[in-house]
Amino acid sequence: MAERILVTSALPYANGAVHLGHAVEYIQTDIYVRFLRSCGQDVVYFCADDTHGTPIEINAAKQGIPPEQFVARFHDEHQRDFRDFDIRFDYFHSTNSPENRHYAELIYGRLKDAGDIDRRDIEQTYCEKDKRFLPDRFIRGTCPNCRATEQYGDACEKCGKTYNPTDLIDPKCALCGTPPVRRNSVHLFFKLSRHADFLQEVLKRPGFIHPGLAAQLQGFFEKGLADWDISRDGPYFGFAIPGETDKFFYVWLDAPIGYIATTEKWAKESGRVPDALAYWGKDAPTRIVHFIGKDIVYFHALFWPAVLNVAGFHIPNEIKVHGHLTVNGEKMSKSRGTMVAARDYLDLLDPSYLRYFYAANLGAGVEDLDLNLKDFRLRVNGELVNNVGNLANRALSLLAGPLEKKLAPGRAEGAGRKLVEDALARVPEVREAFEKLEYRNAIRVITEIASTANAFLQTAAPWALVKKDAEAARADLSDAADVAYLLGALLAPVTPRVSEKLFAQLGAEPLTFQALATAKYPLLDRTRPLGTPEPLLPRLEEERVNAIIKVPAGTPAAEPAKAGGKDKKTEKKPVEAKTPEAAPTTQASPGAGAAEGAPAADIEYADFAKVVLKAGRIVAAEKVKGADKLLKLDVDLGEGTPRTIVSGIAEAYAPEAVAGRRVVVVANLKPRKLKGIESRGMLLTAGSGGKDLSLLDPGDVPPGAEVK
Ligand code: MSP
Ligand code: ZN
Repeated sequence: MAERILVTSALPYANGAVHLGHAVEYIQTDIYVRFLRSCGQDVVYFCADDTHGTPIEINAAKQGIPPEQFVARFHDEHQRDFRDFDIRFDYFHSTNSPENRHYAELIYGRLKDAGDIDRRDIEQTYCEKDKRFLPDRFIRGTCPNCRATEQYGDACEKCGKTYNPTDLIDPKCALCGTPPVRRNSVHLFFKLSRHADFLQEVLKRPGFIHPGLAAQLQGFFEKGLADWDISRDGPYFGFAIPGETDKFFYVWLDAPIGYIATTEKWAKESGRVPDALAYWGKDAPTRIVHFIGKDIVYFHALFWPAVLNVAGFHIPNEIKVHGHLTVNGEKMSKSRGTMVAARDYLDLLDPSYLRYFYAANLGAGVEDLDLNLKDFRLRVNGELVNNVGNLANRALSLLAGPLEKKLAPGRAEGAGRKLVEDALARVPEVREAFEKLEYRNAIRVITEIASTANAFLQTAAPWALVKKDAEAARADLSDAADVAYLLGALLAPVTPRVSEKLFAQLGAEPLTFQALATAKYPLLDRTRPLGTPEPLLPRLEEERVNAIIKVPAGTPAAEPAKAGGKDKKTEKKPVEAKTPEAAPTTQASPGAGAAEGAPAADIEYADFAKVVLKAGRIVAAEKVKGADKLLKLDVDLGEGTPRTIVSGIAEAYAPEAVAGRRVVVVANLKPRKLKGIESRGMLLTAGSGGKDLSLLDPGDVPPGAEVK
């Protein structure tokens, strides 16, 4: 039986939106999991929200809501963001769960029984006004080293020196500004120092962690491993420590235990295994792989294995560490607008573009990855849209058009067959690149295969040949379609929705890495009819790409939620969700907002740039049964297949009066159902509505032309 693999991504804090930096990790992991699955491996992928700790407790208090409610909101939001980036967890749980409490208490009990917990009286900074101990980030003061002001309690951002909060000059409580006092409190420590030998052995295990990082971690052993404070005083959002009063587990104790808790929850819900121990039991025949960012290596490579070992659980087999995302060469920053929320990206662009770009730049090392917007656009357009997309489109549109969707049988020899066989011969390179997390190598090979196939078509020129020798053209195109099929398989871990589209257009079953291990020419079942060709992905347009960076206006409304208020994200939702059935055409008119009582505010250019307006031509129109105001239209937007759009113009226009008319269409509205018909866009009109409506005419431009 194949080994069972458990893969995790680090648990995002339930304290804010997921951004494109987080997405590096989740996309990297998701690609790996999809790849393993395509190879036929038995793999599960888990994640959860990390819900505990002081910042969350304080932010919830500021909003005047219980922390449980505060984190619940992010739980939903995070899940939607991941889903829409095509990140497919087998389970997404929460650290604030009964399963996590159970395992945290169990593990703590075992650490205690093993004599690995020490009680120590330590001096802490305390705010008498807020009646709380102040963790590092809640104290500000002057750096004792370089005298920079307004520095946090743990490290100076100016000179980089680390120190204790008690070393700060002129310290102040970050919440109320009062100078803190020192107060003693009993804390519980995990005796990490006792486990140095064990950890050094773990760090040497092949594949455990990148050798460069293992070497870096040696530094901690040379200085001597410090014991680890695992308790915090109340008020704190976390699990109460059994047998103690007003003491809680430090968030970093129970956060990784969340991996186990999520496994447990999934086990119970799916029934696939009896409980988490099927994966996490000391001798379970499993491979546990954690994906994390370079900022949390210490927790995963030192604390976590030591805790698991003492408590009698399975030690992670591999820790895959990635670097951080920079945007246009700089650290992500809220004030520069480069801390792009996952949702702000998704509102504008298909996730496949970003997944492709990250893959094209990711290696197995911990170097940072830069999202340079120009690079992003040029690379995605040049490789994914023009190279891969073009190959598929050139092959398929001729086959589907003049050649009636029929493929030719495989050939005994010749350039076309060689093309496919050469491409197949490169599959092991791609496989190895995915296995080793050298995704950029996989992408390089994939684009080389696509370029070779495009060059083949260029020489074969089937568009000319088809007029003289249709069968010869069919044979060449069928071989090109074979390569497109292969590319669909190789790209599936990276851009699953592009591959799905491609497989459907080829009229073929999804092709897996497992099947490719023994696949031979011809790849496609040449007796099956093709589907309908369609461009795989539109080109990235400069303005839309640039629009993902929104410099905050600096108005109070742009700030995170205030007490009792709702945050920007949740406030936006009800407006979007509102779907007044009878008036779909008037929704975009600026007057509509005002009519609802909201003052029509000026918008940024970036907001306008979000709207894709295109010229179209109505090719067919009919009445919608049971709706006097609606017409069902087929509108040609130059995409190959006309779109169905339901429009509220029936009182002003009879169906026969609009067929053939040129119109302006909002082309990137979320599809929505009207009277059971999915409408994919909206026509622009002028007038007050009802009979007084006039369709906007873009003039003499081809369908698909952009309106700006
Ligand atoms: N809650 C902890 C992890 C607990 S795991 C038991 C945490 N959360 S986080 O939300 O700050 O980060 C989640 C993951 O996203 C981490 O692995 C982190 O390294 C990664 N990233 C956060 N910002 C990132 C970038 N700018 N770039 C790449 N990865 C980044 O840490
Ligand atoms: Zn205070």
